[in-house]
Amino acid sequence: MNILDIIAKKRDKKELSKEEIDYFVDEYTKNNVTDYQAAALIMAIYLNGMTSKEITNLTLAMAYSGEVLDLTRFGENVVDKHSTGGIGDKITLILMPIIAALGIPVAKMSGRGLGFTGGTVDKLESIPGYNTQISVDEFMENVEKIGISLMGQTLNLAPADKKIYGLRDSISCVENIPLIASSIMSKKIASGANKIVLEVTVGNGAFMKNIEDARKLSETMIDIGKLAGKETVCILTNMDEPLGYSIGNTLEIIEATEGLQGDMEDDVKQVVLELGSYMIKLAGFGDDIEENKKKIMDCIDSGNAYMKFLELIENQGGDVSYINDVSKFENAKYVFPVLTDKVGYIQNIDAEKLGKISCYLGAGRIKKEDNIDNQVGLIINKKIGDKIDENDILGIIHANDENKLKNAVEEFKQCFKICEEYVEKPKVILGIMK
Ligand code: URA
Repeated sequence: MNILDIIAKKRDKKELSKEEIDYFVDEYTKNNVTDYQAAALIMAIYLNGMTSKEITNLTLAMAYSGEVLDLTRFGENVVDKHSTGGIGDKITLILMPIIAALGIPVAKMSGRGLGFTGGTVDKLESIPGYNTQISVDEFMENVEKIGISLMGQTLNLAPADKKIYGLRDSISCVENIPLIASSIMSKKIASGANKIVLEVTVGNGAFMKNIEDARKLSETMIDIGKLAGKETVCILTNMDEPLGYSIGNTLEIIEATEGLQGDMEDDVKQVVLELGSYMIKLAGFGDDIEENKKKIMDCIDSGNAYMKFLELIENQGGDVSYINDVSKFENAKYVFPVLTDKVGYIQNIDAEKLGKISCYLGAGRIKKEDNIDNQVGLIINKKIGDKIDENDILGIIHANDENKLKNAVEEFKQCFKICEEYVEKPKVILGIMK
């Protein structure tokens, strides 16, 4: 078997066999297939698609490219969560400490920013000292000791996905059902939970732009879950505008901290409650979804969720004094309010473009090896349906480069479409699939 024949086969729209997919995943993980050969194959998959058999084989090959954790020592049902990506999506940071504070073990492997979306690992790393690159042993010990660990992808867990994920990001091959489904489900299989709740984002700030594609992606992941013996629930959420009010690494840590202290934007709260209540259900801690939502609110109000967040950060080497006093996070050099010159209602927000502006300012990567600037990003002051008066602040740009700031201001204004008629607030939860 050789990689050139495999690339040619997918280029010519033929189905790859299990052996061919295993060969590619194995040889690429071992660096025997080059990045440019892998890029050619990934682009061919992006353009020509995959059958469900191919998607399953790709998922399993990536999941078993490293260690597969056994979490049974933490209980009969261990539940995990993942998002398909979005703008300002800080749900993991808020939800996982809540779940752990409720006594449900949390062992979560997160990703870095992908395309125009942010990643939990980058956000966590903006807390001074927080170590996302821990070994699998430490990860397990943390869960044993304090009931929660959030880490980045190590070399041992789904290493093939780690490589392909970075590669896709650098060759514009992100928004694709077979590649997203196999990437997410391979990580979930490798990290060992037997119940999975997925946040499937839909809208202009998500990889799935419409509900039909989001349903297709959900079905694909639920089917993979079934084959792998993992009960999977997908919650479809609106990403036609950023989630919450901040985009950018430190800015989102600050918003998540406030959320865990009880001060949460309504859209963030709805997603936290919906996902969380299904996680509680799948973990076997309560069948009544409305009752579970109450448990989540009580956990926040009692301060237990916030205390668990502090415990998590401290346990992974982070300096909790920044969380206890978020004004310790140094601001970017320029903190620039953008005013509106129109009156009316926000009709539309280009969330994808806001994500791209945030990346351009330095919050995300253009090349695989780019460094992240934790300080930069955007604050969104007005959301869809909000009333706008002249000279209202639409948002605030946090930048460290004067030229980038100047370019961002005009682009930022263009992201908001304002009309004269009243506009209803959009629905946040768009569907649940099991
Ligand atoms: N999250 C992942 O882990 N992979 C993707 O492809 C998209 C979102």
